[in-house]
Amino acid sequence: MTPIQDCLINKNHKINPIWIMRQAGRYLPEFREIRSKNPNFIKLCLNENLSSEITLQPIKRFDFDAAIIFSDILMLPYGLGQEIKFEKGSGPKLGKLDLDLITNVSKDEFSRKLNPIYKSISNISSNIICKNKDIIGFVGAPWTILVYMINKMSPKKSLSKEIFNDKLFINKLLSIITKFLKIHIENQIKAGATIIQIFDSWAGLLEDNISEFIYEPTLNLVNHIKKLDVPVVCFPRGIKDYKNFCEVVKPDMVNIDYNIDPKKIIKEIEIPVQGGLDPKILLTDRENLQKEATKYLQIFKDHPYVFNLGHGILPETKIEMVEELVKIVRDFK
Ligand code: CP3
Repeated sequence: MTPIQDCLINKNHKINPIWIMRQAGRYLPEFREIRSKNPNFIKLCLNENLSSEITLQPIKRFDFDAAIIFSDILMLPYGLGQEIKFEKGSGPKLGKLDLDLITNVSKDEFSRKLNPIYKSISNISSNIICKNKDIIGFVGAPWTILVYMINKMSPKKSLSKEIFNDKLFINKLLSIITKFLKIHIENQIKAGATIIQIFDSWAGLLEDNISEFIYEPTLNLVNHIKKLDVPVVCFPRGIKDYKNFCEVVKPDMVNIDYNIDPKKIIKEIEIPVQGGLDPKILLTDRENLQKEATKYLQIFKDHPYVFNLGHGILPETKIEMVEELVKIVRDFK
């Protein structure tokens, strides 16, 4: 059994497994080298040989307990025919959203467009380096995908709130997104994904309608994944009430963000927990890293806990600090 699966079912497991969000990314020189020769990010995600190689880069360096497939949550709008570009320094830019067009996309057409991702998962899962490791497939939560599809860029750059006023439109779009997320998840599992993580990076944007726009569509996905007999991890970043989220959505594990007090979580949440450490800690020094990482390990020492960060690793992170973190987690007793 893999270390993470053991942690999910065996309350007395000893060593905390570790992997890192965005572990295949720009802090790795070997990633930057491939990236510099492949300026089109979407094409890179759809190059099954290169995406497999990138996925394995952090495994080779750090022997993490899970490989997360090198892809992006925005491959979903791409599969639905919405144009998408990643420009240097400005993040993703999406094209016009045409509801009639995406309503008519067939399951086969969608799966065919994203097929290289599934081939890459299948390559990775048969690679010997991934023996006894989980292969993490992932999707964006319906709400976060909707935000990008409507806003056409990261809400960090700009967000006009009135785009969320048309509830009928939102519900229609959420239901199309959810339908295709299920297909994308099934395809990833068929190809060899052993865990699915749902990234709801913009869950924290909503104050009203949380139940309708976040809980219900996410629960719908979670139930679907459970039926496929694969564990599901939710990351509702920025949400205020993790306890309530877990009670309603019931994922197999929840990833906490770095603004959440782990001492509060340990009192409130019974299910396995993942993550939490602020990625900025990796930009400080070894002593501080030791102190902050040990804080999480101590707090969760009698709770099923998978070590991870509270958001993606930052591109300016030094390799030595990641090595140090892995050592701290593996040496903790
Ligand atoms: O290693 C891994 O974690 C697997 C690959 C992965 C990527 N994106 C690759 C990527 C995963 C799991 C994601 C998820 C993702 N993508 C999320 C959810 C997690 C989060 O960060 O909140 C979101 C919101 C996106 C959308 C996205 N993709 C943005 C906003 C950006 C631009 C900002 C940035 O960090 O560069 C991306 C680009 C992206 N996705 C990169 C990588 C490695 C950087 C591409 C580059 O080299 O320029």
